[in-house]
Amino acid sequence: MMKNTVLEFLKKTDGYVSGEELSSTLSVSRTAIWKVITQLKKEGYEIESVTRKGYRMVQTPDLLMAQEIQYGLQTTLLGKEVIWFQHVGSTNEEAKKLGTVGAKEGTLVVAEEQRAGKGRLGRAWVSPPQKGIWMSLLLRPRIIPMDASKITLLAGLAVCEAIHQVTGLEAQIKWPNDIVIHGKKVCGILTEMSAEMERVNYIIVGIGINVNTECFPEELQNTATSLCIEAQQKVSRIQLLQRILCTVESYYLPFMATGAIESILPIYKKHCATIDRDVKVSGRNIEVLGRAVDITKNGELVVRKEDGEMITVLSGEVSVRGVYGYI
Ligand code: BTN
Repeated sequence: MMKNTVLEFLKKTDGYVSGEELSSTLSVSRTAIWKVITQLKKEGYEIESVTRKGYRMVQTPDLLMAQEIQYGLQTTLLGKEVIWFQHVGSTNEEAKKLGTVGAKEGTLVVAEEQRAGKGRLGRAWVSPPQKGIWMSLLLRPRIIPMDASKITLLAGLAVCEAIHQVTGLEAQIKWPNDIVIHGKKVCGILTEMSAEMERVNYIIVGIGINVNTECFPEELQNTATSLCIEAQQKVSRIQLLQRILCTVESYYLPFMATGAIESILPIYKKHCATIDRDVKVSGRNIEVLGRAVDITKNGELVVRKEDGEMITVLSGEVSVRGVYGYI
C-alpha cells in the first residue's frame, strides 16, 4: 500500500520529492521511506536520490507488474486483482487454479515469460521474456456453457481494437480468435472453461500477443509477426495491456447482462479477415472447402460449400485463403 503511494508521488512529480514530504504525508519515518525506495530500486525502478533534494523517478521498469498495470487504469472489474510472474509455466494454468479456489472475477494473471505456454489444439505458444503480453483473465459470467465461445469473439474484437488504438496498425480477426496483420498472426486467444451442464463455474480467457519480438524461430517466420515488426518501432506493453483491459471490459459488461453479442456483430464482421474469403474447414475426419459468408448471433461461422449447401461452424480449424497457412 505504502509502496504504491510512494510510487504515485514519484510518478506525478516532475522533479524531486523530498523524503520529508513523503514521510509527513504518509505519517511514517524517513527510514521507512528509504526502505520503500530501496525495495522499488530492487524491482527495477531507476530512482535518483540527491541529498537535501530528495528522490526523483528516472525510469520505470519495462515490466507488467501490478502497480504499473493499475496505475491510472480505468476499469471497474478487470485487473482489480493482478497476479504477476517473472516466469511461469502457463498463465492459463495459474488462472485455472485461482478459478478453482474462488478468486474474484476479473483477476488478471500475467507473466513476463511462459515456459510452457499453451496454444489451441495442444500446440505450444512461444512466450519469450518481456517480448509479449502473456495474460489470462478469470471470468465468472452467469451464462450457459454453450454461450462461452461468444466470449472469445468479444475478446478478439477488443484486442483488435486496442491494438489499433495504441499502434495505429490495422489488425484483423481471423475467426474465431486469431489476430492477424498483413496476413500473419500477431495474437492468439485460448479460452478454457470449467462448467457443469447448465452453469459455468469460470472461464479463462488466455491472450498471447507478440509485442516486441524482433525475430521468430525459422519455422514461424512465414506465419507469425509482432507489433514491433509491423509498426517498425517498440510498443509499450503496459499501455497496450491497460487498453485491452478497458476494451474487453467495455464489451464484457453488457454481454454479462444479456448473454448476447448481436450488438457487436456488425463491428466484428467489419474487422473480420474471414468473411467473404475462401476457407477450408478441418474437422476431426472431414475437410470442407467453401466461402465464409457470415457470422450468426451465436458466433458461428456460416460457410457456403462448393456445392452451394450452407453450413455453420462453431469451432475448429478454419484456414483462410491468403492468410497464413492456406495459399
Ligand atoms: C492460439 O492461437 O493457439 C492460442 C494462443 C494463446 C496463448 C496465450 S498466452 C497467455 C495464455 N497462457 C497460455 O498458456 N496460453 C495463453
